[in-house]
Amino acid sequence: MRMRNKCRKPTSVAFPCNAGGSRCSLSVLVWSLVGLLLFLHLYSSLMARNNGGGKVAHVQFRAIHHQLFRELEEVEEENIQIPPPRGKRSPRATKRRPNKKTTTLIDEFLDENSQLRHVFFPGMKTAVDPMKDNGNASSSYYYPGRIWLDTEGNPIQAHGGGILYDERSNTYYWYGEYKEGPTYHAHKKGAARVDIIGVGCYSSKDLWTWKNEGIVLQGEETDETHDLFKANVLERPKVIYNGRTGKYVMWMHVDDANYTKASVGIAVSDYPTGPFDYLGSKRPHGYDSRDMTLFKDDDSVAYLVYSSEDNSELHIGPLAADYLDVTPVVRRILIGQHREAPALFKHEGTYYMITSGCTGWAPNEALAHAAESMMGPWETMGNPCVGGNKLFRLATFFSQSTFVIPIRGLPGSFIFMADRWNPADLRDSRYVWLPLIVGGPADQPLDYNFGFPLWSRVSIYWHRKWRLPTGLSELK
Ligand code: GAL
Repeated sequence: MRMRNKCRKPTSVAFPCNAGGSRCSLSVLVWSLVGLLLFLHLYSSLMARNNGGGKVAHVQFRAIHHQLFRELEEVEEENIQIPPPRGKRSPRATKRRPNKKTTTLIDEFLDENSQLRHVFFPGMKTAVDPMKDNGNASSSYYYPGRIWLDTEGNPIQAHGGGILYDERSNTYYWYGEYKEGPTYHAHKKGAARVDIIGVGCYSSKDLWTWKNEGIVLQGEETDETHDLFKANVLERPKVIYNGRTGKYVMWMHVDDANYTKASVGIAVSDYPTGPFDYLGSKRPHGYDSRDMTLFKDDDSVAYLVYSSEDNSELHIGPLAADYLDVTPVVRRILIGQHREAPALFKHEGTYYMITSGCTGWAPNEALAHAAESMMGPWETMGNPCVGGNKLFRLATFFSQSTFVIPIRGLPGSFIFMADRWNPADLRDSRYVWLPLIVGGPADQPLDYNFGFPLWSRVSIYWHRKWRLPTGLSELK
């Protein structure tokens, strides 16, 4: 992984040379440089000292933060042995790698007959049931990959989802694809799919116990011309609140079964729990748009981020003030990098993004990116995954990014939300939620950073079981 300096472009400095314009001597150059460095050092010390709240408070905060998160930052290893080859492979696995005798962990993951199936997709017996566990000392644990039940005891259906924290009701809302239907292939070579049912919504005060608020945007049963007709595609819905209009605005990827429509759909509601009115779809800025997300900045400017040009690059553009459309402004970023599933977050004025590669429902390696401005330039920092084992890290713990939730009351700490897709039965896809921490030195410190700020490392820590630090008053 390479970490690059924000200020790596050469800076031109005017050195005082003699009036006749003769060449500066080497010593003048060296002393000027030393002077510049001293000045920068003094300047940054002064800035640090003047920084609001004072150093003491900062150190205290770091100490508490460190204590709370020591557990989460522990590196947890996984040692999964690939079982020896055996007679029967699933037809899907055989089709994928017809002549392969040896298998990789990814093959095992995608093979529904694999002996390791229970490792990736544990059964109902181990389901996380907050209603049963609530009040126990052992409660509030996330178990990435296990079935997660809502308050009525049904598996949560909110795939490719995102979270809205509603300041008005102090409630978290989780929106996602409600995939409760049979998986089938529309065409021989088409991707596994389920019919559109709609966008599911769940509410929570603690990010762990989720109440089903129903389908807040319905799919269309009969009208074949409708974008949300059941045989089409509705993916990755995201909702943000517009303070000016008082409306909750949902954007989503809408497509036909062959993924050629490549558009965004927009819906709006007066309430976080809907119902949302579907307003229509478009190709943003005239470009194809598949995996997408929304990001609302501190100044309330919201952005659409989408994979475009056949998923070869990402596009970013601010939304109109009412969030119901894009504006003409757009930047092409990560050109030629073939990234999708963008999930954005911000820390101390820097923007970060996690993306996946483009391999359909199969997992691949995540990358973290950073920028000083939403409109870029964006730079790629490398794979943020820590722990598990090498294969876990190369497959994003067998999941794909969808959203990053800031943990209220713990700056620099986030929850990485990802989907562990189950292409054999998409409704049984799982959720992988893990702690994401921004901080710590870059993997490869630069030789000459001269005290300029470096983008901090983004780390997603693998845990079989973890929970948010207790006593986070701001969470509730
Ligand atoms: C993935 C994408 C998912 C879904 C899937 C279909 O690349 O991230 O949202 O579209 O392809 O195969």
